[in-house]
Amino acid sequence: MVDIFHVASWISARLGAAFSRLEIEAAEESARVQPADPRFGDFQANGLLVLAKKRELAPRPLAERLLQVLMADEAWREAGIEAFVSGPGFLTFRLSDGFLLRWLNTYRDETSLQLGAGQRFLGRKIVVDYSSPNTAKQMHVGHLRSMIIGESIQRLLRFCGAEVIRDNHIGDWGTIFGILILMIRRNSLDWERSPTEVLESLEALYREGVARTKGDEAFLEEARRELVRLQRGEPENVALWKRINELSYRAFQEIYDEMDVHFDYVLGESFYREQVDRVCRELETTGLAEVSDGALVVWHRTHPRFGEQPFLVRKKDGASNYATTDLAALLYRVEHFHADEIIYVTDGRQQDHFQQLFLTAEVWFSRKSYPLPALKHVWFGTILGEDGKAIRTRSGESLRLRELMEEGKSRAYDIVAEKSPSLTEEEKRQIARTVGLGAIRYADLSQNRTHDYVFSWPKLLSFDGNTAPYLLYALARIRSVFRKLPISARGKIEAILIPSLATAEERALAKKLVFFPYALAQAIEDLRPHFLCTYLYELSGVFSAFYKANRVLGEAEEIEKRRLGLCARTALILEQGLHLLGLATLEQM
Ligand code: ARG
Repeated sequence: MVDIFHVASWISARLGAAFSRLEIEAAEESARVQPADPRFGDFQANGLLVLAKKRELAPRPLAERLLQVLMADEAWREAGIEAFVSGPGFLTFRLSDGFLLRWLNTYRDETSLQLGAGQRFLGRKIVVDYSSPNTAKQMHVGHLRSMIIGESIQRLLRFCGAEVIRDNHIGDWGTIFGILILMIRRNSLDWERSPTEVLESLEALYREGVARTKGDEAFLEEARRELVRLQRGEPENVALWKRINELSYRAFQEIYDEMDVHFDYVLGESFYREQVDRVCRELETTGLAEVSDGALVVWHRTHPRFGEQPFLVRKKDGASNYATTDLAALLYRVEHFHADEIIYVTDGRQQDHFQQLFLTAEVWFSRKSYPLPALKHVWFGTILGEDGKAIRTRSGESLRLRELMEEGKSRAYDIVAEKSPSLTEEEKRQIARTVGLGAIRYADLSQNRTHDYVFSWPKLLSFDGNTAPYLLYALARIRSVFRKLPISARGKIEAILIPSLATAEERALAKKLVFFPYALAQAIEDLRPHFLCTYLYELSGVFSAFYKANRVLGEAEEIEKRRLGLCARTALILEQGLHLLGLATLEQM
């Protein structure tokens, strides 16, 4: 059976062969097949017109000759794919009912779906470096996107068969600790409060400390000494530093638990501090890095921008930096994880850093005996407030993630309480939590990640449009249909085999379902989860139209069976899709 996961390449391969048979010289893209406007067909070879023009052939006869060659092959009928010529000379392909039913009746549960999708990255080891906040500070809204996008990407990759290593590259090592340790020594700090409260005091102490460094030379000098003591491993300073980190981890963990985000490794920057010397040595001995003004730098002289702006890997004072740590981390991920690919999920403002990191790694690894893994910087834009500027609190501070999440839940609670007053308090809270957090998450993921977007509570909590509440509601509504079935039938929803398709709405829904792997492929291609969001939103729309026009329960057995089956597959794919985005779902709303 030709799997939908491979329909396009299946057609392309045959089209390519038909070109050769007709002795038409054609580039690979001429045989490329893409999903078509559903009004005309399911897939289309769009490159034929261009090819015809290039070879000075009449487009329609060309398409007709190709079709003839293609149809000589029995495989098309067996696969259930029909082909025809349309318009000025397009080749259009349509999936027959037989094809649709075979797909729908094969992928009936999570396991089979995963088996279908899981061929793609089988055997590929991918490190995903995401979330990665800095200690001694609370996570703020700037940390939202890396966590949410990174989590969805790792779920998508895993679903497609990759062996994913989730690595939280926490910033736990830096000059900040000199000032912090000094301030803690000079002021009293009550460690016995909640992690969040202590972090709040630490943030205040740090701000005060930074303000003092401006103008107070003696203070600055003392802070530097504290930092050196920490770097030399003096027990008291190390103990304080550890305490701050442990506390920060606890505060981060509360957010991760709430957002259902988990890591395999939390290797903070400090983990690599023993290895930075090796990195600098290697770069120096291979002549890749040079000392300039006392600092160690790597030049990419031919690069249009970095030709004048070297990559700094060791500061004048001998200290390593963000770049050195990233080089050491890269090496570690190759030597210990044997990564085939490393994905870094950060803010777009770090693009230069990662470009320089990747360029450096390319030259560095060209002298090693093992290959450089594929390196990808998955960057994202800024979250804006309604005023179009980076989102902040009313008083101009950066918005804490914890507060944002609380507000989401509380706003969702008000909506749920108003819409469904008869639910119990416990139910309202649970629904509000799923809706509130899901809405924040979905609003982020449904945007093309490289764009900035405006954060708007009314929009993201709306039950209309491409939002989490809309999708969660769509799924809950399907589940409410199942609840009307006798108990004995409810557990067997997945087992339903859809015998046939009849109405236009049934067919439209079947087709939309079958295209799930396409949405997945699109989202995976350039690691942009919004493609999956758009698909789920469209699927819900097609389902709605089906549900409005086609009664599900109380029809003759055959009709009921096929419509229930379609409901079951829609619920399956909605649930699976939302899960890949990181959202929990609801039985009722
Ligand atoms: N801690 C960094 C920050 O807050 C992000 C780290 C991203 N990962 C990396 N390997 N550089 O900006």
